[in-house]
Amino acid sequence: MDTKNHSFLPFAKPCLSEAAIEEVVETLKSGWITTGPRVKKFEEDLAAYVSTPYVACLSSATAGLHLALAALNLHPGDEVITTAFTFIATYNTIVQAGGTPVPVDVEPGTYNLNCDLVEKAITPKTKAIVPVHFAGAPVDLDRIYDIAKKHHLRVIEDAAHAIGTEYKGKKIGSFGDTQVFSFHPNKNMTTGEGGALSSSNKAMQEFVPMARFHGINREAWNRFAKDGSQLYDVNMAGFKYNMMDIQAALGIHQLKALDGFIKNRQERVAIYQEALKGIACLSLPKAPNYDHNHAWHLYAPTIEPKIAGIDRNKLIEKMKEKNIGLGLHWQAPHLFSFYRKQFGFKEGMCPVAENIADNIFSLPLFPQMTDDEQNRVIESLKEVLK
Ligand SMILES: Cc1ncc(COP(=O)(O)O)c(C=O)c1O
Repeated sequence: MDTKNHSFLPFAKPCLSEAAIEEVVETLKSGWITTGPRVKKFEEDLAAYVSTPYVACLSSATAGLHLALAALNLHPGDEVITTAFTFIATYNTIVQAGGTPVPVDVEPGTYNLNCDLVEKAITPKTKAIVPVHFAGAPVDLDRIYDIAKKHHLRVIEDAAHAIGTEYKGKKIGSFGDTQVFSFHPNKNMTTGEGGALSSSNKAMQEFVPMARFHGINREAWNRFAKDGSQLYDVNMAGFKYNMMDIQAALGIHQLKALDGFIKNRQERVAIYQEALKGIACLSLPKAPNYDHNHAWHLYAPTIEPKIAGIDRNKLIEKMKEKNIGLGLHWQAPHLFSFYRKQFGFKEGMCPVAENIADNIFSLPLFPQMTDDEQNRVIESLKEVLK
């Protein structure tokens, strides 16, 4: 396929409506651009969408994970079980909160935590489980929460990919302990940078509003209002993790469009699955075998280099030559230098995740992708793998 005349196709692109852009401009002109009425509205809209009693908007999902883990009051040596296949933010925030990450291997196909291995990883020092809903495929939460209940553990769901995902008829965030969503520009909906935390846990609901803003006991925009007071008290050494109204202005409109974006992604994924199913050197992603609605944040097959004759990194290069950007989600988190040195992690601890990490790539997937663009991806991939 002649790709020279095509512009570069990235693996992700945000889809922003004129109404969203206008609301950002209105916010900029309004005289109040940081945390204020638009963040409040976005929090109410998110709580209604997810069906949850509590949502806090934040500067990122990383901030949300840090806050959620900080709320657990971990002590040196406390262990947090998590997946061996995730973005490094999951690990870093466990460490920042004073915990020791315990990598547990994943299942092939969904790339999600292998629940059979979770219980085996529990020790007297285990305090929490942090599952990740990879690409918007829900982890088997009935199993995770059964294990957590039996062993008195907290569950912080890294739902960075899972806004709009459903598990057995319920939205992620509408049940369970605590969930953290990402609104980074590559995600299914965006606020530029941004994130949100939902929780049914009363202590978490009290901790987060204060911890996200320096430990101050009232929100800034109330303090600066005519009937507000400039005086405040500080109840903890808090963080600076609040979301701005400029970001929420985007989020309010993105949330309205989210179900349409997800439907569009599901249709594109069905086309990829059909078009690529006969290629021997590829393993295509699998949906979980229980009732769910998959948000398909990523479409990420793995390549078998021995059959393909090229490896994943070469494939990324070759596709780039054809003006197509592939994503890489992710390298194995426990094998980065810091984690090897600090915790003695090494190859072979989580063989399934490590194999996926070596061979996975993400194909372009975003709401305004055209049929022509998707055909270009499919034809180019077939050519490279011929
Ligand atoms: C699984 C996972 N957790 C956490 C994050 C962090 O999200 P943010 O960029 O909003 O901090 C990401 C970001 O890609 C992610 O993929």
